[in-house]
Amino acid sequence: MTPTGWRRWGAPLAPSQNDLSGIRYRYRDDRASSDTGPDTDKISEQGLDMTAKVALVTGAARGIGLATTHLFIEQGWHVAMIDRDGDELATAAAGITDAAPFVYDVSQPEQVDAMVAAVLEAYGRIDAVVNNAGVAEFGPIEQTDFAMWRRVMETNLDGVFLVSQACIPALKETKGAFLNIASISGLRASTLRVAYGTSKAAVIQLTKQQAAELGEYGIRANCVCPGPVRTKLAMAVHSQEIIDAYHDAIPLNRYGSEREIAEVIVFLCSERASYVTGQVVASDGGFDSTGVGLPALRK
Ligand SMILES: NC(=O)c1ccc[n+]([C@@H]2O[C@H](COP(=O)([O-])OP(=O)(O)OC[C@H]3O[C@@H](n4cnc5c(N)ncnc54)[C@H](O)[C@@H]3O)[C@@H](O)[C@H]2O)c1
Repeated sequence: MTPTGWRRWGAPLAPSQNDLSGIRYRYRDDRASSDTGPDTDKISEQGLDMTAKVALVTGAARGIGLATTHLFIEQGWHVAMIDRDGDELATAAAGITDAAPFVYDVSQPEQVDAMVAAVLEAYGRIDAVVNNAGVAEFGPIEQTDFAMWRRVMETNLDGVFLVSQACIPALKETKGAFLNIASISGLRASTLRVAYGTSKAAVIQLTKQQAAELGEYGIRANCVCPGPVRTKLAMAVHSQEIIDAYHDAIPLNRYGSEREIAEVIVFLCSERASYVTGQVVASDGGFDSTGVGLPALRK
């Protein structure tokens, strides 16, 4: 099967990245008893189980997106792993059962349409969309030029808008869920984050818009705001001084792990959260709930 649009924008993919034979469906006999597919009990012509739920996870090549992919699969889902970094995605996806890589850039409208078509061609359904792909560039307001502003906005905000809009018809079919990743930087203002923090605050509002407008179709939309996690994204902008300051300001006194964030994401996408929509959940060790002065009081 060769889905349309199966190439990275502007760069041909290596054959190994272009090969959907890597999709490993489980057959009905292998399904975990905890699987909660919809009523349709459908086996495809190829004998594939088409009732397992499918999550589309953007930014799945590493960090929080990769941890989320692993947790979905542990819970019986299939995962369409989306990332624009084809090499890292191919490495991440190799050996993962029940997932397949799709190399696309979520900030480009034409690519997003092709991406959703390719995922639907491969899996036939989408039950959850995790808008996780993100970039971080920090700088003072006066030194944040328009090019940097746009680089941050086009992935962190445009990407969430574009992917979500393109997936609405599929989520209407499954009464599925959007899960958007914002940040504590979208909840609280801080220095150097005029672009990043503003993009994440907008994602929080976009989530509420989605919940308000799409609830009538049975579609839920929620937002997770991670605190600091030692991923490549964070470590590129967190100096030792910033790390120490975070430890001081966070009641749990540490960074979170990718897995701790994934647990909240997968829960909110699951049937266990079937009456939860329009919510913003900080998974941040208590950072958002705490006022100024705590570090000093500890000493
Ligand atoms: N790590 C943290 O401390 C932290 C804190 C708060 C929020 N977040 C948010 O969590 C999300 C995941 O962050 P992470 O720390 O795992 O980052 P990461 O850099 O480890 O992973 C992000 C992935 O997204 C991909 N990506 C970036 N832009 C893309 C695009 N336009 N199209 C497709 N793929 C793209 C990258 O190639 C990368 O694989 C981001 O939205 C980030 O803003 C992270």
